[in-house]
Amino acid sequence: MSTQPKQFLSDKVALFTESVIRDMTRQALLHGAVNLSQGFPDFPAPAEVKRAAQEAIAADVNQYAITWGTKNLRNAIARQMQKWQGIEVDPERQITVCCGSTEAMISTLMAVCNSGDEVIIFEPYYENYGPDSILSGAKPVFVKLRPPQTPDGEWTFDDAELRAAFHTRTKAIIVNTPNNPTGKVFTRAELELIRDLCVEHNVLAITDEIYEHILYDNTEHISLARLDGMRERTVTINGLSKTYSVTGWRVGWTVAPPAITNAIRKVHDFLTVGAPAPLQEAGAAALGLPESYYQSLAAGYRARRDRLMPVLTEAGFRCFRPRGAYYVMTDISGFGYANDLDFTRFLVKDIGVAAVPGSSFYRDPKDGAQQVRFAFCKKDETLDAAARRLKKLSRG
Ligand SMILES: Cc1ncc(COP(=O)(O)O)c(C=O)c1O
Repeated sequence: MSTQPKQFLSDKVALFTESVIRDMTRQALLHGAVNLSQGFPDFPAPAEVKRAAQEAIAADVNQYAITWGTKNLRNAIARQMQKWQGIEVDPERQITVCCGSTEAMISTLMAVCNSGDEVIIFEPYYENYGPDSILSGAKPVFVKLRPPQTPDGEWTFDDAELRAAFHTRTKAIIVNTPNNPTGKVFTRAELELIRDLCVEHNVLAITDEIYEHILYDNTEHISLARLDGMRERTVTINGLSKTYSVTGWRVGWTVAPPAITNAIRKVHDFLTVGAPAPLQEAGAAALGLPESYYQSLAAGYRARRDRLMPVLTEAGFRCFRPRGAYYVMTDISGFGYANDLDFTRFLVKDIGVAAVPGSSFYRDPKDGAQQVRFAFCKKDETLDAAARRLKKLSRG
């Protein structure tokens, strides 16, 4: 009998593909392209934060930390939640430190979802949420974010469409603000509508706030947990990756009511035991950086956004101006390509710039077939190298 390795695979794993975003980074390496695909900074992390990690290793913080996170880091997270969002958190009963916000999200979904539960996701969405839902047994239900009609407009959703997505099988809604890939920063009015629907239908909100400090144009980040009625029905997810430019350290966390935290801690414990112990200590130091750090982080990203957008526009992309996070979603219909995959393949091989095909952010690839996302969390030299290559596009 011939061997059929595929017969050993689970049904679940057949329901999703490998990450397109991470694959684009491999393509960039293969073709020697400038990598504006995956969202990781190519500049150094803050010196104080790196020093704190080195010191922790030198001090032999090398063994398992408490499974739900070192006390120093949990205390620092609780202090910052109070300072930034005015939310009182008990670090002993409400915080779970995970291996990145990626693990925080899947541990949360596994802790709260039963098979057949529905989870509402705004679309386009960060691609992990699809497989996360499948692996936790939940069914994703998508609500469209519609692109702005004017260069300065906002991505919006239809209130009635959101309302219609809530019903008896709805367990949770995922809200990612500031948003990847659109750069949308949800407004207070939008969050209040989400709050009203969660309360009315007894639904949990899971918020991904990983770009909390990367905001432009006087936008404000509002944690859903801050709104009346949401404290007891919100899991707030955040992490070190983006705020401190340490995506490879894999430290993130959940903040949730005690009963939900207990469930998340159980899943997290058996999934990964714990996040890297010395890097958690460095995380505590990172969260203590002064106000000026966060201001210059946002200002640096605003300058990069304003450097890249005119380059893209000049090259023939229609840009949707992000209000937060570090991506520009663009419309590529001016190039006359049948779809985003053909276009990004051409871009990486012939132009030498890697970007992410828009279809990877939609359930139905057709919806993203004329969109491409660029990441601008890169050094000026990297953005300038991309600019030189992208000039080839406008020359025809
Ligand atoms: C919206 C969003 N959430 C989570 C992550 C991953 O975060 P972490 O490195 O903490 O796992 C990313 C990374 O790009 C992201 O864009």
